[in-house]
Amino acid sequence: MSKAPMILDHPLVQHKISLLRNKNTGTKEFKELVGEIATLLCYEATRDLPTKEVEVETPMGVARCNVLAGRKLALVPILRAGLGMVDGMLTLLPAAKVGHIGMYRNEETLEPVEYYCKLPSDIAERDVFVLDPMLATGGSACDAITQIKKRGARSIKFLGIVAVPEGINKLREMHPDVDIYVGALDEGLNDIGYIVPGLGDAGDRIFGTK
Ligand code: PRP
Ligand code: URA
Repeated sequence: MSKAPMILDHPLVQHKISLLRNKNTGTKEFKELVGEIATLLCYEATRDLPTKEVEVETPMGVARCNVLAGRKLALVPILRAGLGMVDGMLTLLPAAKVGHIGMYRNEETLEPVEYYCKLPSDIAERDVFVLDPMLATGGSACDAITQIKKRGARSIKFLGIVAVPEGINKLREMHPDVDIYVGALDEGLNDIGYIVPGLGDAGDRIFGTK
């Protein structure tokens, strides 16, 4: 059985998600908030990165310190909305490589359609963070992760902002090895597959396309 998803209950995350949900929040602020929440999710999702002990000379003596053990990392945003999370992740992980996977949902069937995939050539050696603010039916995240695994990746985490039980359950069933980190767990989906109460269409709100 896969690990229970981590729902971040941090007050800063909760506060920022409340601002995101507000229909009067404009594109500029929305984009900034998505980035800030991504940074906070990144902090939690990197808690188990391995470290090694080193000695550092301070002005007063020698300190035994822990530094990152040098694992290679990759960020893979699911286009479009996942792009909004990349800079916030790179704030804490500036050396991570960035791949891209393009998926959109067929509006009638809600089935995901892949239209682009370009990943770092050494993706198999990297710890991969798949980014998408919305985990609704879970179709896009599951298919994106299947594609990333087909290219050799074995260590994958999913980071999202708002999820519903349908999406979480599907992701845990299809990819039990993938740890899930999200900022909020909402009630469910409406009849056109949108999260309620959710925050609307994340891609449109990030890029101002509606
Ligand atoms: C949104 C969102 C996810 C997907 C979630 O993308 O960013 O990728 O829907 O829904 P699911 O869990 O039911 O698959 P959308 O299809 O709207 O594409 P866009 O980001 O290009 O607007
Ligand atoms: N995609 C979105 O952007 N929002 C939803 O509520 C569901 C899928």
